Amino acid sequence: MDSVIDIVTFPSLTATAVALVVAILFWYLRSYISNHNRQSNHLPPVPEVPGVPLLGNLLQLKEKKPYMTFTRWAETYGPIYSIRTGATSMVVVSSNEIAKEAFVTRFQSISTRNLSKALKVLTADKTMVAMSDYNDYHKTVKRHILTGVLGPNAQKKHRVHRDIMMENVSNQLHAFVKNSTEQEEVDLRSIFQSELFGLAMRQTMGKDVESIYVEDLKITMKRDEIFNVLVVDPMMGAIDVDWRDFFPYLKWVPNKKFENTIQQMYIRREAVMKALIKEHKERIASGEKLNSYIDYLLSEAQTLTDQQLLMSLWEPIIESSDTTMVTTEWAIYELAKNPNIQDRLYLDIKSVCGSDKITEEHLSQLPYITAIFHETLRRHSPVPIIPLRHVHEDTVLGGYHVPAGTELAVNIYGCNMETNVWENPEVWDPERFMKENETIDMQKTMAFGGGKRVCAGSLQAMLISCIGIGRMVQEFKWELKDKAQADVNTIGLTTQMLRPLRAIIKPRN
Ligand code: HEM
Repeated sequence: MDSVIDIVTFPSLTATAVALVVAILFWYLRSYISNHNRQSNHLPPVPEVPGVPLLGNLLQLKEKKPYMTFTRWAETYGPIYSIRTGATSMVVVSSNEIAKEAFVTRFQSISTRNLSKALKVLTADKTMVAMSDYNDYHKTVKRHILTGVLGPNAQKKHRVHRDIMMENVSNQLHAFVKNSTEQEEVDLRSIFQSELFGLAMRQTMGKDVESIYVEDLKITMKRDEIFNVLVVDPMMGAIDVDWRDFFPYLKWVPNKKFENTIQQMYIRREAVMKALIKEHKERIASGEKLNSYIDYLLSEAQTLTDQQLLMSLWEPIIESSDTTMVTTEWAIYELAKNPNIQDRLYLDIKSVCGSDKITEEHLSQLPYITAIFHETLRRHSPVPIIPLRHVHEDTVLGGYHVPAGTELAVNIYGCNMETNVWENPEVWDPERFMKENETIDMQKTMAFGGGKRVCAGSLQAMLISCIGIGRMVQEFKWELKDKAQADVNTIGLTTQMLRPLRAIIKPRN
């Protein structure tokens, strides 16, 4: 009998029990969330930097290096404070610990981006790994960029492209010495940047480009112009400020000049990328396969739309072409300024490589080069402020309540100048990364960001920069003619030197 009752009542009892459990869970979850929000609401607000009505702190940010202003303010208002840029409230973090909290512990509340007008256009409305929100699209394209270009296996496959680049840089420096007078200074940037662009084109499209007919614009473009359209212009456009970004309630007011400039950059970039893609689709259709990202994407990522394909190919081109050059130029500048450190590096290379050219295989035996790379990233952080993150739900940072709708600026430069983490932070000193028994923590300088959105290109940047520095010091002695050549950064998106490094180079033997 019992068993009959069981059979009859079991399904309904089970359903009731399940419903009850779900209801309790739901109630528990709601009260947890509201407690959590209430808890964060009860925390003190982030300290504010006083500003003026309407404009907030905008006028105080007129100086074109906001990371320096942010770092100065941190001395008065602490490692986390808030400012107002017009109608927008922004929290600025200049501490390693709180930055890590934002990147990792609070990531779920701070994983989206609210792009400026210029960036919305130039990123084709977030169709890029670096500028998208953290969502399924981001995960898909990040997987592709890692598998096809930037991850360890892909970097092994693209090693040949890096070797060509290093040979080209070396040949150009030797040619310069041969064709110049003794005291003439070399412009390293123009050589290194052009070769980095060549590497980006080989990795992405399978070969460098000399010129291309751009059907949409009905013109043939030479390599220099292609570089401008794909790299230089968008980098400038990305920091172009439209005052309506600060006052969204005035977005109806026209700003035609700004809109036209950005639109032109977008149209030209699209036209050149389409021409390149067409050329390489024809190559692949004719049966010619190359070791490149476009070959990978056309076979492994067929669900991408044409626009997504275009942006996926453009992304590693623009990202390869600047930050690594900025780091390498600063490193060579510091080595030229500090002959003792340069001599020590040279002797280290000589003892490990003998008369062979330095290669990636030697790097594990040359910790001093890696230390120079990391110290340069710390002292001259190429991306001084992480692209702004948007706080899309109430959260907590550094023990303060941060309301939804706030923008978050992680001031990497400030983190790397923190006196309780770095002794004499303004001094460039690779020794700080040579502590015995301590392996180098790639994240220590925060230069590559952190957490789920950490830089996807850090391995490539490290390999190119370390071998570039190694080859240049192995083959030449670097000296500054103008010893007082100032440490001045540009106003660019990254911290390019204001004036390109000018150095006298002397072949070692
Ligand atoms: C020294 C050189 C470089 C530095 C200092 C650097 C720095 C950064 C930083 C700070 C971020 C932002 C992380 C965030 O938003 O939280 C980032 C993201 C990214 N970087 Fe780099 N980067 C470098 C080189 C490269 C290179 C060479 C590439 C590719 C060719 C690259 C590709 C990316 C990508 C795809 C992301 C987006 C990651 C994501 O959102 O998941 N980076 N990088």
